[in-house]
Amino acid sequence: MLKKGNTITYSGRNNRKDTMASKINSAVLKTAVLGLGRIAWHFHIPQITSNPGFELSAVVEPLPERLREAAEKFNPGACFATCEEMYAKQKPDLVVVASPTRFHREQVLQAFKNGCDVFCDKPLSLSLEETDEIIEAMHKSGRKLMVYQPHRVTAEASAIKAILSGGLLGKIYLIRHSVTNFNRRSDWQAFRKNGGGMLNNYGAHFIDQLLYLNQSSFRKISCELRAVATLGDADDVVKAVITAENGVIVDLDINMAAAHDMSPWYIAGSCGAAVFDSERKEWNLRYFEPAELEQINLQEGLAAANRAYGSGEKIPWKTKVIANKDFPDIDFYEKCREYFAGGHPPFVPVSETREVMRVISECRQDAG
Ligand SMILES: NC(=O)c1ccc[n+]([C@@H]2O[C@H](COP(=O)([O-])OP(=O)(O)OC[C@H]3O[C@@H](n4cnc5c(N)ncnc54)[C@H](O)[C@@H]3O)[C@@H](O)[C@H]2O)c1
Repeated sequence: MLKKGNTITYSGRNNRKDTMASKINSAVLKTAVLGLGRIAWHFHIPQITSNPGFELSAVVEPLPERLREAAEKFNPGACFATCEEMYAKQKPDLVVVASPTRFHREQVLQAFKNGCDVFCDKPLSLSLEETDEIIEAMHKSGRKLMVYQPHRVTAEASAIKAILSGGLLGKIYLIRHSVTNFNRRSDWQAFRKNGGGMLNNYGAHFIDQLLYLNQSSFRKISCELRAVATLGDADDVVKAVITAENGVIVDLDINMAAAHDMSPWYIAGSCGAAVFDSERKEWNLRYFEPAELEQINLQEGLAAANRAYGSGEKIPWKTKVIANKDFPDIDFYEKCREYFAGGHPPFVPVSETREVMRVISECRQDAG
């Protein structure tokens, strides 16, 4: 079992060119989907039914009208009101857990017991303790587990990776990300008892994305949580300031009580910064080449020369625009196929999922 404090190695393996395609099993993965809500109906099921590597073998949903709707669209014999009924009839290769978060632990463990691999929607569970229980069960059962983290595969994430690795900004010291809206939340996600709240919900997306982009674990975590516009009791304002092992300051705002949008990204390095234009979906970089800076002599003594503020130097700024459209989308279900049907390592390793859950847990503890 992975214990608290374990260092995660972010190997950048997700960038590598695939050389293992031949190892993907040609068998079609019989796939069951648990929960027929927003993410299952609008994402998982269309992906599964349109990808020849998967076959939708079962759906599980307690609401009779949703089950009827599924029965009209798919094989009625493959629609079940409970997981027990489903496992009594079939053993899928892969179970996609897309039910409310409070059911994830129980349903992931049940899938392992029934000999199935699991693709679970985020967050993996309600707590770090549940996550460790799941990881232990995964190792004991020898099954595979991966969490759906769509913000790793966006064009935006690929553009940020290019900016961070491109070197124009010098040594990166700050990544600030803001996700803002005004939403009087009233569904199950509005309540703490259901594992709702924006730290669990969007936090699981953006903490994962920031860890993935910065490729370094988080060590010092400070966080404030507030319930402001929500109609429930779970947080809808999250403010986290985090120091990564590589020294980068990560500043994350998730604010669902924001009358004005905040600027979404500010990435700063020793030689420049990048900001994101949300309308044009472009990154504006402003930077200088260190070799082009003029020489400035350090002043001795305690009286600023000529009573002047600053040295008066002109920074030879350069600009560059990087457009999201130049980065291709990555197909997450192809990443699933590479892992669940073949010899590829997981696109989202479970150690990185644990780090997300550890950070969420520390954010919650710090917020008190
Ligand atoms: N990755 C993403 O981008 C993304 C987006 C939305 C939601 N999610 C995650 O997906 C999960 C589902 O969220 P949602 O927004 O689709 O919820 P939702 O409220 O739209 O749907 C939940 C569905 O699960 C059903 N359900 C309830 N109890 C169940 C049970 N015991 N077993 C099976 N199904 C059950 C409900 O009847 C409903 O149809 C959550 O964990 C959420 O955090 C992820």
